[in-house]
Amino acid sequence: MPRVNRTAVLSLLIVSSSVFLLFQLYYYRKYVSKAGPHILSRTGHLTSSEIQWQTVRIFLALVRHYRLPVFLADTAALTLLSQDALQHRERLVQDPHCSFLCTGRPIISFALLANAWKLDAGFLSAAEQKGFELLQLRGTDPRLASLDTLSGVEIPLHFLFRLHGYIIQVVFLYERSGNYLWHGPLRLKPNMDRSFAPFLMLDYGRHAGAYDRLELVLTVLDGLDVRVPRNVSRFLTEQQHSHFLECHYRDARNFLQLYPDDTSPAAVDFRRKAKSLLRLAAQTLAQLNIPFWLSSGTCLGWFRQCNIISFSRDVDIGIFITDFRSNIVAAFRDAGLSLKHKFGKVEDSLELSFLSDDVKLDIFFFYKDGDVLWNGGTQAKSGKKFKYVFPQFSLCWAELLEMKVRVPCETLDYVRANYGPSWSIPVMSWDWKSSPSNVQENGVWPPTEWADVIQVY
Ligand SMILES: *[C@@H]1O[C@H](CO)[C@@H](O)[C@H](O)[C@H]1NC(C)=O
Repeated sequence: MPRVNRTAVLSLLIVSSSVFLLFQLYYYRKYVSKAGPHILSRTGHLTSSEIQWQTVRIFLALVRHYRLPVFLADTAALTLLSQDALQHRERLVQDPHCSFLCTGRPIISFALLANAWKLDAGFLSAAEQKGFELLQLRGTDPRLASLDTLSGVEIPLHFLFRLHGYIIQVVFLYERSGNYLWHGPLRLKPNMDRSFAPFLMLDYGRHAGAYDRLELVLTVLDGLDVRVPRNVSRFLTEQQHSHFLECHYRDARNFLQLYPDDTSPAAVDFRRKAKSLLRLAAQTLAQLNIPFWLSSGTCLGWFRQCNIISFSRDVDIGIFITDFRSNIVAAFRDAGLSLKHKFGKVEDSLELSFLSDDVKLDIFFFYKDGDVLWNGGTQAKSGKKFKYVFPQFSLCWAELLEMKVRVPCETLDYVRANYGPSWSIPVMSWDWKSSPSNVQENGVWPPTEWADVIQVY
């Protein structure tokens, strides 16, 4: 019966190949698709980068399931990504299957856009079920702090997830009233486990940070869907200069109890004008990509009372002379300000003053000399030069009048240099040629140069 035999053989073949196909499908689903392109290394043990990749994969699956608005904020991983995008440079890749997310560090950091998020207890218990240990760090909510109220409300600032000795840091970014993103510092409470993570290696948390709002894109890194900043190099530059200083609201309140605020219509009017002038200056300088900081009385106002000093009558900012651009004056004119005077020159003691709505904007240019920084002053009628010397400083972000602005990070040193040890006591009559603690006489401009270095409009 050859005919029957052939049918039987054919059926057997079909059944066995179907079983084999099903087995292959099952095998693929169970092992290959879960573990990605690499399951086990040749020795049969998971390598550290494989463990890292698996940990990130599990975390990202939770993120997707619970719709956490997170993006990759890890400086090492983003640096690899920006180099790759820039020049396809050959890099030392530890593991070709995990070339971005496995950075050789036992940490990876993500940022969470906290305004678009509500804590879902399900997320935390799901993470626990996957084996993650969690360290939650909280702190007071600065968005509720002001001169009137000191907030005691605590909000999450950082979450650290740990699995197999590998740390995933989640940094909470909150939107502040100045239209920027803020994260808090990471401070361990006394009862917390100091060995939970290599804290010194974390990218975020040594201090608070401020960022512009940013655009994100969804991409695939090492086979995983991840959101990243659209402009990675800009984000990395911002990250390096993100240090944010909170105003000392408590001290400011004590100050205001001793010296109540001037609430006369003239004072209120000045503050309103000063605010719009500062905003205009910030916009104009941002377009030119020139960093500036609050200087002199405006800096003192922020530091001492978290506000503009109402009797100061002007707005003072500082700019490093190395950031000078010849089109500054034209840019301010285009913004509607008129040049009031120009003293000095780019090589020496440059100072520009603009007027807007009868409030003066003084721009002092700072020069480096050894380990000090100084700016110059010029007396128009005599041609006398003055020099104001400051210890070196770096720049931090701060908030003044609902604006993200820079101040010297070493604010107390800066203010003390300028106003002396009694900076905390208001002085109504101030002479810029003699009152500052750090003023030095600096000779006289030669009369042949006056037309250039003393321009009053
Ligand atoms: C990214 O940002 C930098 C400024 O930080 C800018 O120069 C560059 O053009 C931006 N790149 C893109 C693609 O927008």
